[in-house]
Amino acid sequence: MHIKDRSFVISGGASGLGEATVRDLHAHGGYIAILDLNVDNGERIVRELGADRTSFFEVDISDPESTASAVKKAMTWIKTTGKPIGGVIPAAGVGMPGKLIDRHNEPIPLDRLEFVLNINIRGVIDLIRLCLPHMTTTEPTPDDKERGVIVLVSSSAAFDGQPGQLAYAASKGAIRSMALVLARDLAMYGIRCVAIAPGYFESAMTAAMSQKVRSSLERVLEFPARPGKGTDFAQMVRHCVENVMLNGECVRLDGATRMPSRM
Ligand SMILES: NC(=O)c1ccc[n+]([C@@H]2O[C@H](COP(=O)([O-])OP(=O)(O)OC[C@H]3O[C@@H](n4cnc5c(N)ncnc54)[C@H](O)[C@@H]3O)[C@@H](O)[C@H]2O)c1
Repeated sequence: MHIKDRSFVISGGASGLGEATVRDLHAHGGYIAILDLNVDNGERIVRELGADRTSFFEVDISDPESTASAVKKAMTWIKTTGKPIGGVIPAAGVGMPGKLIDRHNEPIPLDRLEFVLNINIRGVIDLIRLCLPHMTTTEPTPDDKERGVIVLVSSSAAFDGQPGQLAYAASKGAIRSMALVLARDLAMYGIRCVAIAPGYFESAMTAAMSQKVRSSLERVLEFPARPGKGTDFAQMVRHCVENVMLNGECVRLDGATRMPSRM
């Protein structure tokens, strides 16, 4: 899929890896609908990049009504730009650590698990589900007759789940597992699906971790011996969008680092 003059829907586009993707696809000529909970950041990015090729839509991706309304508005905006949809990148995601049972033998409150699963799995599927009718009917590319690409955001946690990360690891494992199913289900429309599993990347999410957790991750880095940057991630997304042979796979983007079992 070419980026120039195609539109992309990016959830979580107001911060971190999603924001870096917004900036990169915009720099390569794309039109970007940013869907996020964070209004201040979302509107700031649109002011910075310009409202001709970016637009912000407030959404709580875990709330089906909010998602339906944001997708409807985003599709109306895409129609007014006249640039056909080319992809969806559901990057909004959260972590909330907690073991299933605590040291007082209390099981974790269900709502802590649901908070993560509703955003990281149900919200991701819901966004794709609602964008699909627009992608299946969009203008195909002249060469491969491609209609769109879905770039999922999994995590190293899908492979190397760390202690206390049950909900997060389960959600990212689910995302990894979806890539091949979506690729197979959507092949008939010329829509691809690729998942990226980043390791430890600089973002608001990792900045919120304790110094102890960050140091434990920094100790096990292979090469390069630094956390990933948003631009490293966005470059990979761009490649997933542009390379038509990438489909149904989950690509690890972690500099060979494996998450440790002890902090
Ligand atoms: N940073 C890392 O090291 C890392 C590693 C692997 C995977 N990831 C994944 O990358 C994605 C982006 O994370 P990040 O590190 O850039 O974090 P981030 O906190 O910087 O960005 C996440 C964005 O998602 C938005 N968001 C959160 N809940 C939402 C909701 N209910 N509805 C709409 N928007 C919501 C936030 O407002 C924020 O703008 C996530 O899916 C995360 O799990 C991150």
